[in-house]
Amino acid sequence: MAYTFLATAAFGLEGLAAAELRRMGFDAKADAGGARFTGEAADAFSANLWLRTADRVLMVLYEGTATSFEDLYQAVFSVGWEKLMPRDAHIPVAGKCVRSTLMSVSDCQAVAKKAIVNRLMERLRVSTLPETGASYPVEVALWQDRLRITLDMSGEALNRRGYRTWNGEAPLRETLAAALVELSSWRPSMPLYDPCCGTGTLLIEAALRATNRAPGLKRAFACEQYSFMPKEQMLALRQKAEIAYTPETPFSIGGSDIDPEAITLCERHIQQAGLEGLLPVSTGDLTKLTLPGPAGVLLCNPPYGERMSDRANCQVLYRELGLLLKRHPGWKMGVIAADPSFERTFGRRAVHKRRLYNGRLECEFFLFT
Ligand SMILES: C[S@@+](CC[C@H](N)C(=O)[O-])C[C@H]1O[C@@H](n2cnc3c(N)ncnc32)[C@H](O)[C@@H]1O
Repeated sequence: MAYTFLATAAFGLEGLAAAELRRMGFDAKADAGGARFTGEAADAFSANLWLRTADRVLMVLYEGTATSFEDLYQAVFSVGWEKLMPRDAHIPVAGKCVRSTLMSVSDCQAVAKKAIVNRLMERLRVSTLPETGASYPVEVALWQDRLRITLDMSGEALNRRGYRTWNGEAPLRETLAAALVELSSWRPSMPLYDPCCGTGTLLIEAALRATNRAPGLKRAFACEQYSFMPKEQMLALRQKAEIAYTPETPFSIGGSDIDPEAITLCERHIQQAGLEGLLPVSTGDLTKLTLPGPAGVLLCNPPYGERMSDRANCQVLYRELGLLLKRHPGWKMGVIAADPSFERTFGRRAVHKRRLYNGRLECEFFLFT
């Protein structure tokens, strides 16, 4: 049976998520909020396992218009819930209402829940639902009166790869870090160096890619508990991903940071990612950095300087990043920054730019050669 899925992605990353899905063999298209694709139930599991830049995989169950609670109730009631979940399913319902006639999220959640419960009780011919079993998180999202009902196939967001348990100063989300590695035009045969590596997210994401490790290999997904999912097929897909992982692949990825505490956290994350001894990191000031060896990619997420007091220091650091690239002829540099005058301070025009969000902060990714 073919289902429609939406791999949700942050603003600016929808195209990257769609490209990842196409490389996996799906006919995916970028759409508002992510990338859409169709496939069988097990394909959602593959997407969970392999997508590096997406936040979640949702099964799209209904799309239409709803301007009243009756519309909402009928739409939710029309979904074949009894084919998706057993009698003991725990069904948390989340809601979103943006620029729509129905504005109360809590009322929409309550109406949707009632419609699911009534449909299940009617079709399963029971008078109670204990909700003691596996969780099936449902979302009803309204945007300009367009209603989308989805079942979450991921559970915890996909950026939770399992290696990061300590947060340093403004760490990058793993999915955004993977996107920056992709946008930087780095290939695993080249050196990659992060001169302000913080807790190491960019370095670890690059190493996962270099060794072809599925980012979801070490974690579980909500859909693994769903009664309609093919258990053996999912097991086989996990085993295939284990085989595809090539930890012996040589790569040259390293970094440094001026803050020794950040380096301590970074080393713990490297160890938790199973990459101990493979990603050399050290304490160091990028203003004094000179790298030996063949040219590669310098990739970094310098401080944003959100507070006025930090802004001047950041400007000095951005100028230093420009000088760092000058000291490394033949290297490329990819930087994510939130400062609109970044290129001027850096001292060069970027050859490629992309508007992105780091959480709620509007940023730009710059690639310099
Ligand atoms: C936004 S954080 C980087 C976060 C990192 N991408 C992560 O995932 O954890 C910026 C980092 O730049 C470092 N930094 C600031 N000035 C520096 C300098 N002169 N040399 C090297 N690192 C510096 C800070 O210590 C901080 O860890």
